[in-house]
Amino acid sequence: MNNFPEGMPAIAQKFETAGNITEIKPLGPGFINDTFIVKTDKSRYILQRKNHLIFPDVPGMMKNIELITEHIRKKILAEGGNPLREVLTVTVRKPETMTEAEKKDPAGHLYYKDASGNYWAMCLFIEGSVTYEKADTPELCYKGGEGIGKFQAQLSDFTTPLNETIKGFHNIRWRFRQWDEALAKDAAGRVKDLKEEIGWIEDRREEMLDFWKKVEDGTIPTRVTHNDTKISNILFDGNGDVLCVIDLDTCMSSTSLNDFGDAIRSYTNTGAEDDRNLDNVGMSMEMFEAYTRGYLSQRKGNLTESEIENLAFSARYITYEQVLRFLMDYIDGDTYYKTAYPGHNLVRTHAQYKLLCSIESQYEEMKKIVDKYAR
Ligand SMILES: Nc1ncnc2c1ncn2[C@@H]1O[C@H](COP(=O)(O)OP(=O)(O)O)[C@@H](O)[C@H]1O
Ligand SMILES: [Mg+2]
Repeated sequence: MNNFPEGMPAIAQKFETAGNITEIKPLGPGFINDTFIVKTDKSRYILQRKNHLIFPDVPGMMKNIELITEHIRKKILAEGGNPLREVLTVTVRKPETMTEAEKKDPAGHLYYKDASGNYWAMCLFIEGSVTYEKADTPELCYKGGEGIGKFQAQLSDFTTPLNETIKGFHNIRWRFRQWDEALAKDAAGRVKDLKEEIGWIEDRREEMLDFWKKVEDGTIPTRVTHNDTKISNILFDGNGDVLCVIDLDTCMSSTSLNDFGDAIRSYTNTGAEDDRNLDNVGMSMEMFEAYTRGYLSQRKGNLTESEIENLAFSARYITYEQVLRFLMDYIDGDTYYKTAYPGHNLVRTHAQYKLLCSIESQYEEMKKIVDKYAR
C-alpha cells in the first residue's frame, strides 16, 4: 500500500501505460502542478494534476500540447532523431475507461477529470534526463537559449491556431486591467502600505504599453511561444545537451520576444527570485550574452527586424510584468502563487524589482550584444 498515495492507482489506471503499475511517488514540490512518477514493470510516466484554477481550460491546453508535440515529433522523425526523448510524448486515455461524452470531446483522450473536478494528464518519463533549478554557468545558459531557440525553430512553420488557455498572458494591457481592479478592491487591505511599490509599476506603465502596441498592431509578429522558459522546463541529457522543452501548459500564440525576455529574467539573475538579500540580485551580463548567443544560434536569420530591435526590451517587459504579478498577488491576499511564509510575495516583488533596475541600467549594452549575434 505504501507504494501508492491514496486514490492514485485508480487515476493512473485511466491512462494507456505499458505494463502493470507497481509504484506511484510524488516528484518534488511543484510550483503550479502536483507531479507524480508512475512506475510500471516496463516504463515510467509523469502524472500531473493540472491546476484548473490557473488553467481554466485544461482540455484546450491539452489539445494545444497534442498539436505542438505532434508537429515537433514529425520534424524529429524526418531528421532521424529519437522522438521518445526529443519531445514530450503524451500518454492517452485507455478507451475503455472513457465515457461517451469524453469520446466526443476532441481533447477527451488527453486528460481525466476526477470526481472532485481535478484534471489529470500523463506523459512518458524521459529516462536519464536532468533538469537544473538554476542556470549557474554561461555554458548552461547557452544550452538553455539553444533549447528554446530550437523549440521555436521547430515550430516556426506551425500555423494551427492555438487555444488561448490563459487569457491575456503576458498581455500588459490585460494585466493593467487586473491591476487597476486589484488596487480598487484592495482585498487584503494592503494597498495603504505599498505606496513606493505601486509607484514602481505606475512610473513604467506607458513605456510598457508602447511595447505591447507593437504586438497588437502586428509590427512584432505572433508565433508559437512556450511562455514559461525557465531552465527547469528544459530536459538535458547526461552530457548536458538539450533533449527537449517540457511543461508545455502555457504554450500559446504570442510574440516570441516573451520567451526570450522570460528566459533572461530567470537565467541571468545572480540571486534567487525570492532573495531577501537584495545585494545578491542583479542581471549578469555574462549570462545574458551566453543565453543570447545560444538562442540566436537557432533563430539567426529567422527573426524580423522588429523582433531584433525589441529583443533586449523584452527582458524589461517580462521582468516588469513579474514585479507587477507578485505585487498584485500580494495585494489580492496571496491567492495565486504558493507562499512559504507571510509576506513571501512582497519579498518576491522587491527581488524582481531589483532585477528590473539592474536590467534597465545595462540596457544599452544588451542591445549591442543582440545586434552582434542576431544577423
Ligand atoms: N517527461 C518528463 N521526463 C522526465 N522528467 C520530467 C518530465 N516531466 C517533468 N519532469 C520533471 O518534473 C519537473 C516538474 O515538471 P513540470 O512539467 O515542469 O511541472 P511544474 O508545472 O511543476 O513546473 C520538471 O522540472 C522535471 O524535472
Ligand atoms: Mg516546470
